[in-house]
Amino acid sequence: MKKLFKILGVLAGGLLLLAIGFFAFVSITWNKTFEAPYPEVSISTDSTVLARGQYLVYGPAHCATCHIDPNDFEAMSRGEKVPVAGGGEIIIPPGVFKARNLTPDVETGIGALTNEEVARVMRYGVGHDGRVIFPFMPFENMTEADLNAIISFLRSQPPVSNKIEPTQYDFLGKVVLALGMIKPIEPSSAPKKALQQEVSVVYGEYLANSVTNCVGCHSPRDLNSGEFTGPKFSGGLAFEEPLGTFTTPNLTPDPETGLLATWNEETFVKRLKGGLIHEGTPMPWSSFAMMDEVDIRAIYMYLNSLDPVKNKIEQTVALRVENPK
Ligand code: HEC
Ligand code: HEC
Repeated sequence: MKKLFKILGVLAGGLLLLAIGFFAFVSITWNKTFEAPYPEVSISTDSTVLARGQYLVYGPAHCATCHIDPNDFEAMSRGEKVPVAGGGEIIIPPGVFKARNLTPDVETGIGALTNEEVARVMRYGVGHDGRVIFPFMPFENMTEADLNAIISFLRSQPPVSNKIEPTQYDFLGKVVLALGMIKPIEPSSAPKKALQQEVSVVYGEYLANSVTNCVGCHSPRDLNSGEFTGPKFSGGLAFEEPLGTFTTPNLTPDPETGLLATWNEETFVKRLKGGLIHEGTPMPWSSFAMMDEVDIRAIYMYLNSLDPVKNKIEQTVALRVENPK
């Protein structure tokens, strides 16, 4: 008996040492900085370019959904161009991620950042301070024209002073960073110069993958690291939100389990233009409602061109029932 206790004691001591060692490793190594190239940016004051930038920021690229004060959300849903002065928070197990102030205010906004620093966040997921940014903004393959238009528009806005506290990582977030699970993004090829806005598969593919990020939510992924774990656009990613569980439908044209099998193009356009129905869903409906019909039709055409994937999603919206007595 005594011997057994001795062995258990040694084991427990070993585990404790391991835990302390791991804790020390994480505390020392999570706060890494990364190198990535600074993309070239060319700023314009041309009104067509600024209008394109504003359209992308509030509409398809939905920077506004995250980078505004949540109190302004209703006004934005009515189509108002409220300032992208930051304030939105993404609360997930790795931490509380605070979307920055994107107005040109020098003290609290992007006024002290260079255009190239802003572009590097979008292309490589590396912050101005060298931190790797969790993959909320996968704009690595955005065209040069669109990237320039967005930064030109951001620079043209009136500065708004609004101090945003730094992102706070929980222990899990620090573990993920210490183990190097989040890496700077690598553009898959040299970005295109520009693309024609038209109803075509090419333009739809561009929007769905490199601007609107339909792919990021409507695909199976590991939510801690962002890795894709199954066929793209086949849905099934579940978001635990304060108001309930929201699961993405399968957007591939599978005749039995794909959403598009039962939705024609007009239904699709009407639904996207219709905006938010279920309070609390993570899908940026309000921004997408500001999308031009051309863009929505291009996305529809692209989704219909995908290989069908069988993946039955039983329920997309499951609201939490309060006091189920
Ligand atoms: C899904 C939400 C979301 C969307 C969409 C989004 N952002 Fe962000 N953004 C964030 C969050 C969260 C942070 C803070 C990240 C951090 O501190 O790790 C951030 C940080 C940034 C930063 C600062 C990075 C740094 O150096 O500290 C810039 C610049 C930025 N976003 C630009 C944009 C632009 C431009 C768009 C649209 C083209 C956009 N974001 C769309 C959530 C979003
Ligand atoms: C941030 C995550 C996110 C992004 C980005 C996103 N979706 Fe969704 N989407 C969801 C979730 C979650 C649901 C299920 C809850 C709901 O209906 O709002 C959903 C539901 C849908 C539905 C079904 C709506 C219904 O009434 O049944 C369609 C259609 C859809 N998304 C299309 C798209 C398209 C097209 C894009 C890109 C332009 C896109 N989504 C981008 C998360 C996202």
